[in-house]
Amino acid sequence: MSIRKENLLIVDDDYDMLEILDRHLEQENYHTYKAGSVLEAIDILKHSEIDLLITDLQMPGMNGMELVKYVDDHYTEIPKLVITGFPSIDNALTAIKSGALEYLPKPFTKNELLTSVKNSLLNRASKAQKSSIAGELRNNYAGMIGTSAKFEELVDIIERVKNNRATILIKGESGTGKELVARAIHYKGSFAKNPFIAVNCGAIPENLLESELFGSTKGAYTGASETREGYFQAANGGTIFLDEIGTASLAVQVRLLRVLQEKEVRKLGDKKSEKLQVRVIAATNSNLREMVEKGSFREDLYYRLNVVDILTPPLRERKEDIIALAKTFLEKYQRDYGKSNLKLSEKAIEILNRYNWPGNIRELENVIQRAIIMCEDEILPQDLPASVKYKIPTVDEELVALKEVEKKHILKVLAAVDQNKSKAAEILQIDRKTLREKIK
Ligand SMILES: Nc1ncnc2c1ncn2[C@@H]1O[C@H](COP(=O)(O)OP(=O)(O)OP(=O)(O)O)[C@@H](O)[C@H]1O
Ligand SMILES: [Mg+2]
Repeated sequence: MSIRKENLLIVDDDYDMLEILDRHLEQENYHTYKAGSVLEAIDILKHSEIDLLITDLQMPGMNGMELVKYVDDHYTEIPKLVITGFPSIDNALTAIKSGALEYLPKPFTKNELLTSVKNSLLNRASKAQKSSIAGELRNNYAGMIGTSAKFEELVDIIERVKNNRATILIKGESGTGKELVARAIHYKGSFAKNPFIAVNCGAIPENLLESELFGSTKGAYTGASETREGYFQAANGGTIFLDEIGTASLAVQVRLLRVLQEKEVRKLGDKKSEKLQVRVIAATNSNLREMVEKGSFREDLYYRLNVVDILTPPLRERKEDIIALAKTFLEKYQRDYGKSNLKLSEKAIEILNRYNWPGNIRELENVIQRAIIMCEDEILPQDLPASVKYKIPTVDEELVALKEVEKKHILKVLAAVDQNKSKAAEILQIDRKTLREKIK
């Protein structure tokens, strides 16, 4: 019986680290592919059959998290092992969210590495189980949950634009699902088989963004030792998602404009340009119009990007979706924390519905994760953060007498603290006696 050597793809921008990993793994009879960047890794994935991805998180340019998402989207069967020098719970959580099954903080011993690799390879089997959970969810459009009118509108627009290459600008507050919308457009559309490349323009140092986006030739700048493809070339045939487009420098804006006008890309230092078929989706939570007026964003680029614009509504404008979203997150995360069959109590539902969610869906997701950790077998008000419980929603109200406002306000605070008068008095900054009188 011959044992097949498993193909492991290891990705790290630190070549010493790559060497160490390589040595440990080869000794154990694994076969390794090595990549010094996410783009190299994507190239290897296209041409080889990989059994496990092992990646660093912190890398310049596209980071390991983006690679994990990419593999999740394009090679669902490949398990992922994330290594990071910045071990933090947050990183671990994000990694688990996007399907990375194992997580290994640096420094680690050879044995820890090998155990993680073995576990990851074993995890391949449980994959089918996971996807059946996702399949059970209702009202789910490419991972987006909702039934409100605003949500239906959003899905309608996605349906109308998904199959053509028109440039799209997604605007919306932080945490409203801009990236999810971009992914939905790509994966529901007719080029879904081609790459979806997400680039966070704000996360790449300004002096690198140009070459990262468009590629560079040997000698294009000091240190450019070989010709390299950029994200645009990597996205050919598919979609490039330019997140936080408002942070792109004016130099990058000029080049982007040319790409959008001519449909071709020229590498840094190159005389020739290449024709590309890429749909550009940009996203921003800053007001680009205002930036145009102030001169920090090119007007011509703004109009080129804004061919189709999509607004992701804040959660407070689609309150009907709050509980469905909360239940989805509950369903999605409880297993990660070793819990099951958790319920949302009536009181918790009331509080979630009342809050106005300035951090939108991301905030709701975080609140539910925290509650899962805190709760026993039902999520109660005590498992929700004080800021959510006691936050007084700001709604435009009609003009009424001060007394009316006072009365309403007192009732709201009382409701928020479960009629606990001491707590209410503390929040209202009056003493309990005064409060009692006012209640009378
Ligand atoms: N309709 C939805 N259904 C389920 N989950 C959603 C929905 N919209 C957003 N989310 C989740 O909420 C979180 C925030 O979404 P996303 O990252 O797309 O927001 P964003 O608008 O890009 O935020 P930011 O401006 O902060 O980058 C993600 O974890 C995403 O999966
Ligand atoms: Mg985003």
